[in-house]
Amino acid sequence: MEESRHEIAYEMMCNWKVFFENAVDGYHLAYLHDKTLGKVTHDKQVWEARGRHLVWWSLERDGTKHPLPKLLQDNAGASPTAHVEHHRAYGGIYIIFPLTMLALHLWGLSISVLETVDAGTTLLRIRSWAPKGQRGGRFKLKDIPDYDPDSGLIK
Ligand SMILES: [Fe+2]
Repeated sequence: MEESRHEIAYEMMCNWKVFFENAVDGYHLAYLHDKTLGKVTHDKQVWEARGRHLVWWSLERDGTKHPLPKLLQDNAGASPTAHVEHHRAYGGIYIIFPLTMLALHLWGLSISVLETVDAGTTLLRIRSWAPKGQRGGRFKLKDIPDYDPDSGLIK
């Protein structure tokens, strides 16, 4: 199978712990990601602890654990949806504490790693893989606001 791979890196002016706390704060999804993830309120999602690690689930379908927010699945069309239904036993996001996140998308997989530059600067490197032709395969770095082609960072 042909695949496409992408790597993007965000330079964030914060300590890695600030980013981590924001990432697992379930209150922000319904406000900051309402256009892409829908209105996933804090009572419609859960982070489950697995030792020091975390697994995220959507509870939007009558409280049943599902790896994807409903809006994301609804907008994806029939083919990827069938794939996700087959893999419902898996969570949507895995945080391997403290610095690594795995996300299973409709179109592929991404691995995000936090790198501490100094106490107030953190790099977030996101590596994504997708079968060619899937949504991830149409991804263009230049389309991301604040992308700097000289440094390769999004600032
Ligand atoms: Fe977020």
